[in-house]
Amino acid sequence: MVATTAQAKRMERLGVDAVVAEGTESGGHVGELTTMALVPSVCAAVSIPVIAAGGIADGRGICAAFALGAEGVQMGTRFLTVEECTVADEYKQFVLKAKDSDTMVIGRGSGHPVRCLKNPFSRQIRLLETDLAANGAEIEAMHLGALRRAVGGDVANGTVMAGQVAALVAQRKSAAEVIAELVAEAEALGALDLDAVAALNARRQRMLSDDGAGED
Ligand SMILES: Cc1cc2nc3c(=O)[nH]c(=O)nc-3n(C[C@H](O)[C@H](O)[C@H](O)COP(=O)(O)O)c2cc1C
Repeated sequence: MVATTAQAKRMERLGVDAVVAEGTESGGHVGELTTMALVPSVCAAVSIPVIAAGGIADGRGICAAFALGAEGVQMGTRFLTVEECTVADEYKQFVLKAKDSDTMVIGRGSGHPVRCLKNPFSRQIRLLETDLAANGAEIEAMHLGALRRAVGGDVANGTVMAGQVAALVAQRKSAAEVIAELVAEAEALGALDLDAVAALNARRQRMLSDDGAGED
């Protein structure tokens, strides 16, 4: 997973097969750049496949990601509410109820930023982060087991990781149903064969590579 173009280039030099370019909209650990800004920049800079992540929850997001140059997508928040996901029902309900302004990032000051749903826990962390020097130990103690608490159903006192697209998640369904729906929507929307679009992006990336682009 990369959060900047420089990281993607470094990963390519190190020999990875592909990179996931993840925008700050995503749930969990985040960088600063948005998916919309990051993905095309990474796609222009590396010749390995780029998988877009962050803020993709439906066929529209998939079409957008492919249009930006990605060959695939990685989605997290959309699958938090599927039947197969083992988080507690309270977690799923929290995601289903979320509005687009209901996430926040905690941990920026300490260098481990995490996007999660606003709750008493995340608000208290944010408050304590205004004085990291004085409250560092308390913050660290609060983070211990915080995701586990949320996953177990304590959505007031845990880190309920979820991305900004929680606002678009309104169904439970099975993972297979969600995937079928996503692909159908994306193909209908784009009126194009997604494989053809992916192949086009892959060819462009190979051409960039042949030109020596992607080098520092
Ligand atoms: C609850 C949750 C836990 C996650 N845990 C990890 C993790 O352990 N490692 C990781 O690389 N990404 C993790 N992610 C990020 C996802 O793999 C994915 O890239 C991200 O959710 C995509 O953005 P989206 O949430 O907007 O779909 C997590 C995401 C969520 C929502």
